[in-house]
Amino acid sequence: MAQANGETPPVAQEKINTDIVTLTRFLTEEQSKHKEATGDFTLLCHALQFSFKSIAYYIRRASLINLSGLAGSSNSTGDDQHTLDVIGNEIFVAAMRSSGKCRLLVSEEEEECLVFNESSKARYAVVCDPIDGSSNLDAGVSVGTIFGIFRLADNAEGKQEELLLPGTELVASGFTMYGASAQLVITMKGSTVNGFTMDNALGEFILTHPNMRLPKSRSIYSTNEGNSMYWDEPVKEYFNSLKYPTEKGGKPYSARYIGSMVADAYRTLLYGGIFAYPADKKSPKGKLRILYECAPMAMIMENAGGQAVNNRMERMVTIVPEHIHDRSGIFMGSYDEVQKVIDIYKKYH
Ligand code: AHG
Ligand code: MN
Ligand code: MN
Repeated sequence: MAQANGETPPVAQEKINTDIVTLTRFLTEEQSKHKEATGDFTLLCHALQFSFKSIAYYIRRASLINLSGLAGSSNSTGDDQHTLDVIGNEIFVAAMRSSGKCRLLVSEEEEECLVFNESSKARYAVVCDPIDGSSNLDAGVSVGTIFGIFRLADNAEGKQEELLLPGTELVASGFTMYGASAQLVITMKGSTVNGFTMDNALGEFILTHPNMRLPKSRSIYSTNEGNSMYWDEPVKEYFNSLKYPTEKGGKPYSARYIGSMVADAYRTLLYGGIFAYPADKKSPKGKLRILYECAPMAMIMENAGGQAVNNRMERMVTIVPEHIHDRSGIFMGSYDEVQKVIDIYKKYH
């Protein structure tokens, strides 16, 4: 319909938010809550933020600029490296090195802990899985980066062993998911979980999911059921109890497994349910790495009101790895869903 002035109005008008909370603004506001803060942590997060933008950019362009496929090498834990695993790692390492705020860096793609001697005064240590879910890369499935930040002791000497810390020592952790848009989830010690969405035009992560809380329960399970013949009895009993409910009128759970933990974890945070990668007879120590996969995710799940435990039903964040690439079984997600596994294990032990 024509307007009074005779012109046709636009189909729809976007309501413009002129007071956006960007990640940069969020970090500055967080910093101002801590009177003792020096700004080092904020600067470290800015360097992390750049690495996420950069990795997201190359993943988007991978098929166009011939970055798909295997690199022909394998990493410290024997996994085949994809070209983007190598590039993602290089981007991450360069960002941490040049930040001047990171003294030690553990990456899934580096056999040894990297020690940045040029930043010998830096007080932070970072752990990362530069690209989680890389076996899905060439199929265009969502992948992401997982990270954790530790504050080193004042008398730290900058040695690998100083990073063998439990998740309870993390000052911050988070992950990104490079999907339909790039998402970033971040939490700080004893704080809330906040989700940001990359606005490609602005080049900024925008706070779109403040104070993410896990639904207390939800009938969704997420696990690689192809491993079920290797599972131990409590794990088998637990998943069977979801699929064959015994109570009258009980409905079976839905199965959702993407095979990229970042994507399965992101869905679990939003919709609820449980994600599990149990240790089993084939992988007695589990598959996922404690320092840079399990602990950061467990911290997020707990800060969002959920639970995360290992195969012995111990809180995942209390586990101290003996080696930087140590693995563990993990069950994480909605509080009540994880409690069901814990209760079944109690019957056995
Ligand atoms: P990465 O790509 O860093 O090696 O991690 C892959 C992990 C994780 O993303 C996922 O949950 C799991 O491996 C999938 O393993 P399966 O293929 O054995 O299900
Ligand atoms: Mn991974
Ligand atoms: Mn990886």
